Amino acid sequence: MMISRVSKKSATQFMRTLASFTPAKPLHARDLNKQTIEAKYAVRGRIPIRAEEIKHHLQTNPESHGFKFDKIINANIGNPQQLDQKPLTWYRQVLSVLQYPDILESEELSKSYPKDVLTRAKNILSSTGSIGAYSHSQGDQYIRKSVAKFISQRDGHPANANDIFLTAGASSAVSYLLQILSVDKNSGFLIPIPQYPLYTASIALNDAKPIGYFLDESNNWSTNPEEIRSLIKENSEKGIDIKCLVVINPGNPTGSVLEKEDIKELIDIAAEFGIVLIADEVYQENIFQGEFISFKKVLSELVIARPDLYSNVQLASLHSTSKGFSGECGQRGGYMELSGFTDGFKNVMLKLASINLSPVVSGQALMELMINPPKQGDESYAVYKQEVDEIYSALKERSELLYNAFTTMTDVTCNKPQGAMYLFPRLHFNKHGYARLFQEAQDLGVEIDEFYCIQLLENTGICCVPGSGFGQVKDTYHLRTTFLAPGTEWIENWRQFHEQFIKSYKS
Ligand SMILES: Cc1ncc(COP(=O)(O)O)c(C=O)c1O
Repeated sequence: MMISRVSKKSATQFMRTLASFTPAKPLHARDLNKQTIEAKYAVRGRIPIRAEEIKHHLQTNPESHGFKFDKIINANIGNPQQLDQKPLTWYRQVLSVLQYPDILESEELSKSYPKDVLTRAKNILSSTGSIGAYSHSQGDQYIRKSVAKFISQRDGHPANANDIFLTAGASSAVSYLLQILSVDKNSGFLIPIPQYPLYTASIALNDAKPIGYFLDESNNWSTNPEEIRSLIKENSEKGIDIKCLVVINPGNPTGSVLEKEDIKELIDIAAEFGIVLIADEVYQENIFQGEFISFKKVLSELVIARPDLYSNVQLASLHSTSKGFSGECGQRGGYMELSGFTDGFKNVMLKLASINLSPVVSGQALMELMINPPKQGDESYAVYKQEVDEIYSALKERSELLYNAFTTMTDVTCNKPQGAMYLFPRLHFNKHGYARLFQEAQDLGVEIDEFYCIQLLENTGICCVPGSGFGQVKDTYHLRTTFLAPGTEWIENWRQFHEQFIKSYKS
């Protein structure tokens, strides 16, 4: 083909333009938002990243990988379906109809579904329309009403759909709340230590101030209201404006469950100091010992008994489809109930939600399925019940096995699991008894518990998170592990590794 003289000329000009400047350098960390650089999130930190590298190596070199194990056990994150927990049939059947509503039109296809699945899918679709469309930014009205009904049945006190925000997991609720409450550098957030690092990370992103209150390990990781009160006093005197008290119940990483009296004492603090309470209750279904009591229930009782004292308490309660028996972490379902907040606050929250357009609609649908599951007499009930019971028993059994293993390990103590998905054992290592360990960790520039977790990973493939990622009392060392991984072999491997570790490092 002939190239015309005109196009030849413009091509030459184009080449000249291309060559006429020095290319700019890519962005460096110093060019980026400082808060995003500084925020830390240990659950997906250095050790899990190394675990991913090893996993890749094991997969690509199955015959000659050189490790003493063949697979990585991801005990670092509460991600049940990553660890072979099967999705509940009821959820996935309804979701499949929501994704492909033509099933409802086809007699042939719909024959393979239980009737209650089809009815529920129709009900959801008649409110949401296509789940591929944005919903109302606060979440679908039908599902919010359903959440309000669930809360009122759970607590025996009314809840209002207008106070419910459906969210993309509990994480986005935390992010909205912390963003709204972070007025400036002096906005203080009381968070438990140890804590789930979403909180320190979100506080860092908002350039606000974390104020850790210690949970009492010797008393099953309970809260100490006196310590919280003195922290409020001490920090207020320094000019910190305490905005919020965060409580995680059941606890992550501690696995503890708060009693009613503890909850009341924390509500008292919120009432007395006008501090917003965030009750992170994403593990409310994961109870192995004791009973889950919601902050909303206790607050409702207090408001009835003493409206003069408790009517102004502002409580944000969070729930999620990621935990419990659902384990649908990837589908991002959650809700936040705002009790006692002004319309002004709720409008700002709605604006923030509107900027983000819409919570994930399939996640909203999952929330509906989680809080309003099949009932006795429904066609799906038997299978649903059997699957939930199996998940519950497997988790309980594994939590006990792992707990029992820790109780037999040298220089380890562990509180009995009451709830959630985690154990947070303490490693009783000190400079005197473990001089070489302290020296080696120092040489590598890592914390003692991080050193242990690295060795555990490199020797057994078990990936867990050092206590330093959650916060802990100075000179104490812990680690957090989930008990989600199937099988028991890995627990025995851990026990053997531990005794070997002690043999090499204890003087
Ligand atoms: C205490 C706690 N809160 C919130 C979350 C966030 O969960 P999601 O955003 O998946 O609902 C987690 C996740 O592990 C958690 O442990």
